[in-house]
This record gives sequence, C-alpha cells and structure tokens, in this order.
Amino acid sequence: MAQVIVVIGAQWGDEGKGKIIDLLAEYADVIVRFQGGSNAGHTLVVNGEKFVFHLIPSGILHQGKRCIIGNGVVVDPKELLEELAGIKKKGYLKDDSQFLLSEEAHLIFPYHKIIDQGRERINSGKIGTTGKGIGPAYEDRASRDGIRVIDLVEEEVFRRKLEENLAQKNYYLSHVLGEKNELELEPLYQEYMRYGEKLRKYITNTSLFISQQIQEGKKVLFEGAQGTLLDVDHGTYPYVTSSNTVAGNACAGSGIGPTQIDEVVGVTKAYTTRVGGGPFPTELHDEIGEMLREKGGEYGATTGRPRRCGWFDAVVVRHAVRVNGLGGLAITKLDTLAGLKTLKVCTAYEVQGQEITEFPASVDAVARCQPVYEELEGWQEDISGAQEIAQLPAAAQRYLNRLEELTQTPIHIVSVGAQRDQTIIHHNPLVN
Ligand code: GDP
Ligand code: IMO
Ligand code: MG
Repeated sequence: MAQVIVVIGAQWGDEGKGKIIDLLAEYADVIVRFQGGSNAGHTLVVNGEKFVFHLIPSGILHQGKRCIIGNGVVVDPKELLEELAGIKKKGYLKDDSQFLLSEEAHLIFPYHKIIDQGRERINSGKIGTTGKGIGPAYEDRASRDGIRVIDLVEEEVFRRKLEENLAQKNYYLSHVLGEKNELELEPLYQEYMRYGEKLRKYITNTSLFISQQIQEGKKVLFEGAQGTLLDVDHGTYPYVTSSNTVAGNACAGSGIGPTQIDEVVGVTKAYTTRVGGGPFPTELHDEIGEMLREKGGEYGATTGRPRRCGWFDAVVVRHAVRVNGLGGLAITKLDTLAGLKTLKVCTAYEVQGQEITEFPASVDAVARCQPVYEELEGWQEDISGAQEIAQLPAAAQRYLNRLEELTQTPIHIVSVGAQRDQTIIHHNPLVN
C-alpha cells in the first residue's frame, strides 16, 4: 500500500484527472496541487452535479480532507476567491482549515493576463494559451521579479514590489504590445490588499504541513494539472504550458523530497485529445474525430474551445510512462469508444521510411511523423454501467489488454462515465 502518490496526466491534458482525484481522495487525507494555475479545468460530476475546479484541489468535496495549493502553483487570487466562494455557496468547505495556500506560491496579476493575451494576438494564437497569465507569471518567478503570496501580508514590501513591477510592465505593455492604457498602482494595490485580507487565514508553510502529515502516517495525493506532453521540458515544446507537469515536480512544487513518493499513476483517455496549437500525430479530421468530440463532450473546461480528437497513441503514453516513472494507468472515457466498428491504436511513428518508437524532441520532427496503426475490433454495447472488467464486452477487454501491453504498464482504474460510480477500480494504490 502506498502512502504518498502522484496522479498526473499522461497525454495533452484533460485526461479526466479531476474525476480520478475526486475518487481517490476518499482514501487520502491530503490532496495537493503542485504546478499550473487556473489554466487547468478539472471536472467532477458528483450526484449528478457538475463542478469545475481551476485552482482548488479536486478533493475539496470530501469533508475533512485537507486541500493544498503548493508553492509551485501560480495563483490568481481573484479567481481563487471566486472559486472558494462558489463551493462555500454550495455547502462545501464549511471548515476553513480544510484549505491551505502556500506562502511561497507566486501571484498572477492583471498584467500577466494582458501580456499572455497580447502575445497570442501578435502570434495569431499560435500556442493557443488559455490567456490566464500562466506563462508571464512563471517568467517573473524565473527572473526573480515575481510577487508571492507571502508578500500580500507584508504591505510595505508588497507596495514596493508592485510599484517596481508596474514600471516594467507598463513599459512592456505600451512599447512592445501597443497597449493604450497603463495600469495604475493605487487601485491595484488596494485590490490585492483586499484579496490578501480574505486569503490570510489560509496562508501557511505548506511544505512543513505536508511533511508533518506524512510523518503522522497520513495519506497524500498529489494532483497534476495539464499533461506530460504539455510539460515545458518533456512536452511538445514550444506548444506547451510553462511548468513541469511531470510527477517529479510534485516534490519541487510542494516542498517534499523524492524519497517520500511511493507511487505514480498516469491518467490517460482511451483515445487522445488536445486543445490549443501544436503537433498531434493521431489527430482525426474526419467523422470519427467529430463523433469522439460530440459523444465525449470534448470542449475545454476552462475556455470552452473544441478539443482536437484522435486515436490512442502508445508512443505518447510510453513517453509519459518513462518521464513520470508511472507504476499504473487510469484509463478514462472508454465508454466514448462504444459504437465504433474498428478501433485504431498508434504503436509507432514512421518518418522517411523509418519506424521510430520514441517521441521526438523537435516539434518539426513530430509534425513529420506518420502514425503506424494497429486495428482492433470495436464493441457496440453501452458500457457505462460496467462495475468490473469481466462485465465489459470481450472486445473492450482486448482493447485494454493491448493498451497494457503497448505501454508496458498495468491498468489500475478504468473509467466508463463521468460519475463517481462509473469506475472500475482494479487496484487502488492507496488501499492495497
Ligand atoms: P482533467 O482536466 O484531466 O480533470 O479533465 P477535464 O475535466 O478537463 O475533462 C474530462 C471530461 O471528461 C470531464 O467533462 C469529465 O466529467 C469527463 N469524464 C471523465 N471521465 C469520464 C469517463 O470515463 N467517461 C465520460 N464519458 N466522461 C468522463
Ligand atoms: P488540465 O489541467 C489541456 C494548453 C493550452 C495551450 C497550452 C499553453 O485541465 O488538463 P497556458 O495557458 O498553460 O499557457 O497554455 O497548454 N493547456 C491545457 N490543455 N488541459 C489543461 O489543463 C491545459 N492547460 C493548458 O490549451 O495549448
Ligand atoms: Mg481539464
């Protein structure tokens, strides 16, 4: 049995991490976000009600579980407060001690969003960011210009840092992006002081808290955002997000050491989707892609954009197995594939007559890759009520077996619908 596990996306995001985290949260004590920001959109369907979380960990609906935003997350305090207010209104988070915010997390300011969106305009939406200011906020962290959560409670320090930042950002906004309006110090200062006041009760040393919880034998669940192929190093650079999304970053992004992690689970759809720009070898531009999008409800949880859809890509998931050290997979949305006569799975890529089985580093090389497909028989039955693997049609079982073989990774969980009970848990790492 594992005490500390990391759950990450093994594709290009939106794999269904939120659903899996919500499910596993029942068996955990602490749930931690360690990277990304409100670019994430994690959907949970609980008792027929839909929740979308952008910043708050997906364990928050379980009373008594401590939910933490770690230091590696870039936090938009306005969005965070709106999200907190939203769940409180629905009767959750009755006890404020359930939620903790790292004092070392970096803050997102309006200028980060304006810069993010302004650059997209200049680049004609090349990357297709969510426009949430994620990249510019991580840039400030790396250049040591960032303003952190702790600064919100030190008014004079905060004012000085904001003043310095505004001078730089206003210059950039007007001279580089051609923005007409300057951002003013005083209203922004006042606005963020109000946020600081409201967030104060949650702000703490979360690295210390998590370590203490681990020492006490509590179970900790790390919740990845985005996906492996959106990792700033291991993804389809530059068509990526601006953080390390891989499991290794659970340590740096929360302030614990690698020796404390027991298990890593990768979430992957039974097919592939991607939202935003960049290469996608198994993308389908036909009626099957359309069918996956409509049946699977493949529209972004953060931006509402239609997701690009395609066949399962074993090269991608094998890459994720390696760079995350995955010990098991959670396969989601198997139900969406029902009704297709034949299913295809990409086993390798062909480039200039050569077959390759490792994901290339250069996006131009990826764009030249032609998927090598293996065909498998589909199934027609609705499987959204299946409670165990044995209840799945033989063709669906063969499909899963083949995914296990191709990824050389055991399947721990199979999800056949958005609801909690539409899940087959073959192996629960937090239990056995
Ligand atoms: P995340 O970002 O990885 O948490 O994934 P999203 O929430 O962005 O997208 C996954 C979508 O699929 C959400 O709308 C979920 O409610 C839904 N979902 C998750 N698992 C399943 C499943 O097994 N079957 C179906 N049909 N929908 C699912
Ligand atoms: P979850 O956690 C899918 C994509 C954007 C864009 C690229 C960079 O819900 O899986 P950014 O705003 O991060 O600078 O955008 O990354 N992207 C996601 N795609 N799921 C996500 O999160 C994503 N977060 C960012 O579409 O292509
Ligand atoms: Mg999502």
